[in-house]
Amino acid sequence: MTTPGMVAEFDDVAAWTAEAVGQLGDGHAIPAACRGSASPAALAWLAEACELSAGDRLLDVGAGSGGPAAWAAKRFGVRPILLEPMPAASRAASKLFGLPVLTADGQRIPLRADSVDVAWCLGVLCTVEDKAAVLREIHRVLVPHASLGLLVVVASRPIADPPDGNHFPLQSELVDLLDTCGFDLVEQTERPAAVPLSWSRRAQEVTALISARYRTHPAYTLASRQDTRLNDLFDNGDLSLQLLHAMKR
Ligand SMILES: C[S@@+](CC[C@H](N)C(=O)[O-])C[C@H]1O[C@@H](n2cnc3c(N)ncnc32)[C@H](O)[C@@H]1O
Repeated sequence: MTTPGMVAEFDDVAAWTAEAVGQLGDGHAIPAACRGSASPAALAWLAEACELSAGDRLLDVGAGSGGPAAWAAKRFGVRPILLEPMPAASRAASKLFGLPVLTADGQRIPLRADSVDVAWCLGVLCTVEDKAAVLREIHRVLVPHASLGLLVVVASRPIADPPDGNHFPLQSELVDLLDTCGFDLVEQTERPAAVPLSWSRRAQEVTALISARYRTHPAYTLASRQDTRLNDLFDNGDLSLQLLHAMKR
């Protein structure tokens, strides 16, 4: 279910991000458009785990405004296909990176079975109630034995009052889900913490410009509230960001 908090966080902020990058320059696009995956070290871990290589068709499910897929295209020469249900985020991804975007839900991927070489799904499963439906669809469209790279916000205990629209899985639930949906978990690691200053500076400049323009907008207030609640949960140790490499059985 799409909630007002999710629309503010994923759609309104995506449109504002594209606008801010238009002013600050293309060098800001990838750091600012990585929402949820954030660090280049995390993306590099996923790319190496999935053995990305030039020409691979990489499906990014819940691609947001496209930063991770654009990073993979630039660094590894993959051919991304973005899938994102929020219309303004889809437009932002297309405007920022000129990549093909399917505006669709991960529970109904408009692609043929066995048609993509590798898939990413970063920061998405915790925003979806029916996680199995998304994972089964990804499984359907991947070629046999293909890799799936996941970034998942995992809860260390059941969270009674999560930010609007979030459903954080426990580690045991995540492992069971992957298995039930036809994936073998190959490896998992906690997200590497270090982010180079050059990357975080560009992301923060975009954030500052958005704040200067939109801080009185109701969607800005809503998105900030979501962020604050999420950060509190991370600070308390209730949540962690996990990177996973799984393979289609
Ligand atoms: C935290 S953002 C991460 C965006 C991007 N993957 C990244 O790492 O920068 C979560 C994204 O999941 C998308 N999303 C939510 N529900 C979805 C669904 N059912 N199918 C596909 N994407 C979904 C949201 O619209 C949002 O863009």
